[in-house]
Amino acid sequence: MKISDRLRKYSPWLLLGVGLGVGAAVVVAFEQTMHYTSQDAFCMTCHQDNAGKEWMQSVHYKNPQGVVVSCASCHIPHEFAPKMVVKVGAIKDVWGFLQGKISTPEKYEALRLEMAQHEWSRLKTNGAKECRQCHKLEAMDNPDMPFVKDEHEAALKSGKICTDCHQGVAHTPPGKAEVAQHP
Ligand code: HEC
Ligand code: HEC
Ligand code: HEC
Ligand code: HEC
Repeated sequence: MKISDRLRKYSPWLLLGVGLGVGAAVVVAFEQTMHYTSQDAFCMTCHQDNAGKEWMQSVHYKNPQGVVVSCASCHIPHEFAPKMVVKVGAIKDVWGFLQGKISTPEKYEALRLEMAQHEWSRLKTNGAKECRQCHKLEAMDNPDMPFVKDEHEAALKSGKICTDCHQGVAHTPPGKAEVAQHP
């Protein structure tokens, strides 16, 4: 049998095999990229001197339980479609970074409120799902502060989301650069 005949004979299987191999490699690369770009270290490459520094001072990094809440758990949705929206949006941030949009503390401060508003409205559209992954308002009951339960019961009824009342839970709240972190 000539080599070309042999190839012809096997080519559908060869093609399928190669196709599956390439497909698998693409899926793995995609998963790896998704995973890598969700890690704090990745976020820190650009946010070390701003959002990241503030986060490390906040209750979501430093608390008696030693629970470190990652950037991704608040900023990156778990479901595929909303996650993709955030990831594709991040391409704009890479571009913004290259343009030097947050290259100095002054520039960052000037942009802070606008950025925070983007995040608040994103959380508004999903009812602050990311926060509720850890915090259950229904279950929050502090005997030392009974008004917290009342406050949250009212919040649940009125349809308010966490960031309507709690802002700056991981960063300096906008407009209050000189004021200490939440609480
Ligand atoms: C390549 C640099 C870079 C990396 C890496 C990066 N960011 Fe950003 N990020 C920026 C820049 C620049 C802005 C300002 C965006 C703008 O308005 O163009 C920004 C803005 C944001 C905002 C405000 C969003 C908005 O819509 O205004 C959030 C939230 C944010 N980043 C979170 C993250 C998280 C979480 C990670 C890690 C998963 C991350 N960033 C990784 C550069 C980066
Ligand atoms: C991965 C889990 C997790 C996520 C996601 C999360 N939190 Fe928390 N949160 C914690 C932990 C842990 C603490 C610290 C508990 C403690 O020691 O009081 C905390 C503390 C708080 C506190 C109390 C602050 C204080 O001074 O005691 C508030 C308010 C809060 N979180 C709001 C939020 C909001 C708003 C979001 C969403 C933007 C959010 N959290 C997302 C785990 C989480
Ligand atoms: C209507 C306003 C309002 C909304 C909406 C709201 N809270 Fe609160 N929350 C309060 C007040 C007021 C307190 C008590 C004072 C404080 O710690 O800021 C409180 C306290 C807390 C505490 C501290 C509890 C303790 O016992 O120390 C946590 C954690 C918290 N809220 C998380 C959340 C999360 C997460 C959401 C969204 C799922 C949310 N809250 C929605 C008003 C609100
Ligand atoms: C506990 C949830 C939580 C964690 C953890 C968290 N963020 Fe945020 N982040 C928020 C919320 C909510 C806002 C909207 C503004 C606000 O309420 O303070 C925000 C705002 C921002 C902004 C816009 C600027 C500003 O100050 O409002 C950037 C950039 C950002 N986050 C990046 C990060 C990065 C990078 C990390 C990890 C190093 C991180 N965040 C960790 C909840 C979180």
